[in-house]
Amino acid sequence: MEFIETIKAKAREDLRTIVLPEGTEQRTIKAADRIIGEGLARIILIGNPEEIHHLASEYYLENISKAEIIDPGNNPKADAYADLMVSLRSSKGVTREIALELLKNPLYLAAVMVKAGDADGEVAGAGNATGDVLRPALQYVKTAPGVSVISGTFIMDIPDTMFGDHGMMLFADCAVHPNPSATELAEIAVSTGRTARAIVGMEPRIAMLSFSTKGSAKHEMVDKVVGATRLAREMDPTLQIDGELQADAAIVPGIGASKAPGSPIAGKANVLVFPTLEVGNIAYKLVQRMAKATAVGPILQGMAAPVNDLSRGCSIDDIVGLVAITACQAQASAGK
Ligand code: ACO
Repeated sequence: MEFIETIKAKAREDLRTIVLPEGTEQRTIKAADRIIGEGLARIILIGNPEEIHHLASEYYLENISKAEIIDPGNNPKADAYADLMVSLRSSKGVTREIALELLKNPLYLAAVMVKAGDADGEVAGAGNATGDVLRPALQYVKTAPGVSVISGTFIMDIPDTMFGDHGMMLFADCAVHPNPSATELAEIAVSTGRTARAIVGMEPRIAMLSFSTKGSAKHEMVDKVVGATRLAREMDPTLQIDGELQADAAIVPGIGASKAPGSPIAGKANVLVFPTLEVGNIAYKLVQRMAKATAVGPILQGMAAPVNDLSRGCSIDDIVGLVAITACQAQASAGK
């Protein structure tokens, strides 16, 4: 996919350090070998060093010798990390003992390494459920200044279509926040617009989706989207945002013109913001399967430093691609 090649070239321009907490997971260690070989990022693997070396020799992975390996059972920085964890979450009941125990869990250790600045980003999820990957990051990496909600966007590359930018679209939130308020939905729209610019190099045209177009239906769910549209415009006046729009009005020019005349977005949206996670998650999976789209993500947005979650069904290519994206997000957040 051309998009991923562009992302890889960008990642190589300014190398970032990405921690992979599932260092003994088969696809992850193979991906790490390729990432190092292709010069996409510096890699930290978390796991038992003996096991990692054994797997590297079993799979003939010559580049793993260039990865830094952190043993969660024998980590020289555990005391310093525990202090950091207590300072951040003593009000939530995190004591030194609890912190040291949590640090034995690679997913917590990775999140704390990112927080401490020892890694620029994290990618995990080949062997763990979304919630287990996200929780440590939500607790310790936290949101970027001015952002209260983390969300997940998918870059959809839809073949043989004129929708979006020659078939390239962003969908959000498809991964994280089940039922956002109007303010949170506005933040999701703004974060997605910024991801479109920073990662895809696309000028976003954002549609706030509903089952109503410009007042065609009356319901509190529609009111939420109308409110979110107004708030999102206030939050970032540089972004082109319109709503509430039905999906067909958002992407089909003729329907956009008849249902929402005068809208700068209707008929030409390239970013779709869904009112709830239910809709977003179902929509991206349907488009992926029924339209044979490539779905890259979820790319988590709004975090103070990038942490990304893989699907447990991911391929080695998926891991390599998501690490390259994470490295580019780290470059973008360092540039702020
Ligand atoms: N943005 C920012 N902070 C958040 C968010 C969010 N979206 N959600 C939770 N938090 C914070 C909370 O404020 C809390 O902070 P605190 O401990 O400092 O007070 C912390 O994270 C933990 O919050 P909880 O609500 O206790 O965490 P919980 O584990 O219940 O939920 C989670 C968080 C895991 C993200 C949950 O919302 C979830 O499971 N979401 C759905 C994920 C999912 O299954 N997606 C679909 C599959 S992915 C796919 O198909 C691609």
